Formats: sequence, C-alpha cells, structure tokens
Amino acid sequence: MFFAFAANAQTPNDLPDTMAARVQACTPCHGAEGRGTNDPYFPRLAGKPSGYLYHQLLAFKNDRRKYPPMNYLLEFLPDDYLKKIGDYFAEQRPDLPPAAVSDLSKSVLQHGEDLATQGDMERGIPACVSCHGSSLTGMEPAIPGLLGLRAAYISAQLGGWRYGTRTAIAPDCMQIVAGHLTEDDVRAVAAWLAQRPAPADASPAPQASFALPFACGSQPNEGK
Ligand code: HEC
Ligand code: HEC
Repeated sequence: MFFAFAANAQTPNDLPDTMAARVQACTPCHGAEGRGTNDPYFPRLAGKPSGYLYHQLLAFKNDRRKYPPMNYLLEFLPDDYLKKIGDYFAEQRPDLPPAAVSDLSKSVLQHGEDLATQGDMERGIPACVSCHGSSLTGMEPAIPGLLGLRAAYISAQLGGWRYGTRTAIAPDCMQIVAGHLTEDDVRAVAAWLAQRPAPADASPAPQASFALPFACGSQPNEGK
C-alpha cells in the first residue's frame, strides 16, 4: 500500500491540473469524494468546512499533526494548492455513513451524551456542542462537525491532543478541552458521537452563528 501510494507523490514541477487527478492519491484512504472507507482510522473529509481542511493539510505538511504517509504526501505541495484541495472536499456532500452500533453500556453512553451536550464545568470541560454546534455539524470556516466519524478515530484524535502529537493554531482549544478528559471520558464521548444518527442537513452552521465559550486560534470568535 505504502509503495503504491509513494509512486503517486507529487513534486511542484509535476502537479496535475485537474482536481480529479489531484485527489486520486487520496481516494484509497479517504474514499470517493472523501466519503470515508470502512477503515475506522481513515477519516471522512467530505463536507467539512474548507478552512478546517486547509488547516489540517498545513498541519500535516508542517508536522504539527503526524501521520507519516500524509506528512510525506503533502511535503512538497504549495499552500494555495492545499487550499484548493480543502475547498474541493468541503463542497462534496455524499450521505453520511450509517451510525455505528455501540456495544458499550447505557450508562457509559449517557456519560458521553452528558459531556457532549452539557460538559462538566467543575472539571473545566465545556459542552462539545458549544463549539461544534447544537447539531454537531460544525461551523464555517474552521470548526469541523463530529458526525460520520468512527469511535476509534475520535478517540485517537483526542489522544493526539492529550499527548501533544496533534496541535492546532494557538490558543489550541482542543488541547485545553482534551487535557481535561480522562480515558473513560474519551471512550464514552467517542462512542456516543459515533452512534448519532445523521441530521437532515449535515452542513456546517454559517460563520458567526454562535459565539464560542472561549477563543480558538483557528476560528474567528464573532458570534452572538
Ligand atoms: C495512506 C492513507 C492516506 C492517504 C493516501 C491520504 N490520507 Fe489523509 N489521512 C489519513 C489518515 C489515517 C488520517 C488521520 C491521521 C491522524 O490520525 O491524524 C488522515 C487525515 C487527513 C485529513 C484530516 C481530516 C480531519 O478530519 O481532521 C485531511 C484533510 C486529509 N487526510 C486529506 C488528505 C488528502 C487531500 C489526501 C490526498 C492528497 C490524503 N489525505 C491522502 C490517511 C491517508
Ligand atoms: C472551545 C471550542 C471547542 C470545544 C468546547 C470543543 N471543541 Fe473540538 N474542536 C474545536 C476546534 C477549533 C477544532 C479544530 C481544531 C483544528 O483546527 O485542528 C476541533 C476539532 C475537534 C476534533 C477533530 C475532528 C476531526 O475530524 O479530526 C474532534 C474529534 C473534537 N474536536 C472533539 C471534541 C469533543 C469530543 C468535545 C467535547 C468534549 C470538543 N471537541 C469540544 C473546538 C472545540
């Protein structure tokens, strides 16, 4: 797999012009139109806000987020090219995959729901919905939705923030949030999110639809 994909690595002098050709190297892992695959660690890209996707591509390129095949693939791609790739995947709207069925107990899932919808202010954990939106579909331009992702991927990302292998532009609010979560919290909230049904409209909320509880470096905080 790695070699097949290494053969697709592009250099600035050798960039294909069409978007279909540009994203061909991404399909084996991210699925057609970025809809995701059955691999629980390969995330869906489709329909996430373009600013969010662009920040991730820059983070892999600059080693602020680590996954060697992606770090390698993006190393030589110019930023404006990455921006266009982000725009392309943001515009794709294939249906969300069917929700997962969790084998965790009701009380664990209830704990996940409480964290996601109410947070736990005594422990410094704001509700996930306070930034990711009441229907968890994110907000333009740079807050991702949390639906259509598998529990294994979500826990790995929260772990990445807790252990410093994933970082975002400072103030890195996910590092602050994830730093307050225990292993049990991560397991519960990841499982609860992964079994949420798709909303009628999975589009991110428009920019400035609501104010964040505290500032995130990657997103202007200008809502009501
Ligand atoms: C070998 C498999 C593989 C290939 C090829 C690949 N990716 Fe990825 N990509 C991943 C994995 C795995 C992750 C999650 C890594 C992590 O744990 O942080 C990821 C993460 C991402 C993310 C962040 C998603 C999010 O929700 O935060 C973006 C954006 C992305 N890839 C875009 C691309 C693009 C664009 C291409 C093609 C130019 C590509 N990837 C090719 C495996 C791959
Ligand atoms: C203060 C605002 C804020 C709160 C509260 C918050 N998030 Fe986030 N979250 C963000 C931002 C901003 C990003 C994008 C970071 C980046 O650019 O990498 C993000 C990204 C994520 C991602 C990465 C998604 C992907 O596709 O890789 C996950 C997972 C996540 N948050 C889970 C949670 C969970 C679970 C909670 C509740 C326990 C939560 N977040 C609460 C602001 C927040």
